[in-house]
Amino acid sequence: MADSLTIIGLGYVGLPLAQEACRCGFRVTGLDVSSSVVKGLNAGHSHVDDLDATDVAEMLANGFSATADASCIEKADVVVVCVPTPLSDDGTPDLGAVESASRSVGTNLRPGTLVVLESTTYPGTTGECVRPIIEEASGLVAGDDFHLAYSPERIDPGNARFGLRNTPKVVGGLTDGCTEAASTFYGRLVDQVVPTVGLREAELAKLLENTYRHVNIALVNEMAVFCHELGIDLWSSIEAASTKPFGFQAFYPGPGVGGHCIPIDPNYLSWVVRSLGYRFRFVELAQEVSERMPAYVAKRVQDALNAERKAVNGSKVVLVGVSYKADISDVRETPARPLVALLRSMGAEVGYLDPHVPEFWVDGEPVPSIGPVDAASTGLADADIVVVLQAHRVVVDSDVLNDAAAVLDTSGRLVGENVERL
Ligand SMILES: NC(=O)c1ccc[n+]([C@@H]2O[C@H](COP(=O)([O-])OP(=O)(O)OC[C@H]3O[C@@H](n4cnc5c(N)ncnc54)[C@H](O)[C@@H]3O)[C@@H](O)[C@H]2O)c1
Repeated sequence: MADSLTIIGLGYVGLPLAQEACRCGFRVTGLDVSSSVVKGLNAGHSHVDDLDATDVAEMLANGFSATADASCIEKADVVVVCVPTPLSDDGTPDLGAVESASRSVGTNLRPGTLVVLESTTYPGTTGECVRPIIEEASGLVAGDDFHLAYSPERIDPGNARFGLRNTPKVVGGLTDGCTEAASTFYGRLVDQVVPTVGLREAELAKLLENTYRHVNIALVNEMAVFCHELGIDLWSSIEAASTKPFGFQAFYPGPGVGGHCIPIDPNYLSWVVRSLGYRFRFVELAQEVSERMPAYVAKRVQDALNAERKAVNGSKVVLVGVSYKADISDVRETPARPLVALLRSMGAEVGYLDPHVPEFWVDGEPVPSIGPVDAASTGLADADIVVVLQAHRVVVDSDVLNDAAAVLDTSGRLVGENVERL
């Protein structure tokens, strides 16, 4: 079995894959266009939450190296592409990084190589976008001269229970031979490989998973708004419903969705559906509901201050947890950003407490940090209201919020006389 692997794109997805592959005896080269990522990794620094410097040191000791030179692909038996798939300014898929990575693969590909795309994308990308670029640049034919497959990444940053190895890996190839080659490769890295009948089924599986989360999060977000008005504790109802041993999975409300997946990926699917002449209404509705949540949280801040005969204008508001989910540092698409912008526009003085996020900027202006958790009590004592956006363990497990004047908790994790839930 082949054991020289090139991973293109060394971020939240590519780096954990590189780590597992190093552990499994592959000779791993990481290719990235960012010179700071390449330099940092070669110097032993990690830039993603799930790996620390010790992990990178272990990888380097196992032969890992990072480079910006695409000629490393020439030596690879397997190439896995993990580059970003963002949205363009007009909300449509931006496949620029996938196309450029595919060109790098095509110009350096040798016959017999297995090429796998892991970036989340719409069904058809691997066969109709990646394949022709690689074939044209290499002069080789997919399925005959090289193997081509798609395998969605299911990484959940900060999840201590499920990592790459114990999360089943979906794999779909251009041909049966491609599926088999990709299944053999991933079979060395993960406990269970799940083959699909083709490329597009594997591509869709990932979007189905993310759309399912997106829609269900929006469902409870919408319920949180009317449950508050009806005086119903939605968290208690979710807890009760969760005791049903079949047919129900718990989702929780929050200040809005963030990260690279939920707010972005389902748009890839609705974009494809639009090309059929109609709309994927569930996704669009979910987007609309969750996008309204930061404004709803701002309104609840206003109501809470009003109850104390205070105006938002001039009040000190501290946001706890500005990353997009608990216990990680990723601030991509975080709902904290629109919330800060709204509160500022209403005249509030906004600060934040987040041990995972050393600095936080909104609209080109820094949001002042009130310091590390152990020294944060002064900043919290001055606050007219504290809004818990993400319940980072280190904050929730401390008593730092006990003496705050008022706490609006969007996470449903806190209790106390000064705490009001979303
Ligand atoms: N972050 C997650 O939790 C997660 C989970 C599942 C799937 N995904 C998907 O995986 C893909 C990668 O996401 P990520 O979070 O790892 O992104 P990331 O931004 O953390 O990392 C991507 C890396 O790719 C590099 N890059 C960009 N263009 C390149 C090119 N042409 N050649 C080489 N390197 C290039 C960037 O410099 C960056 O270091 C996306 O499609 C994403 O939707 C992400």
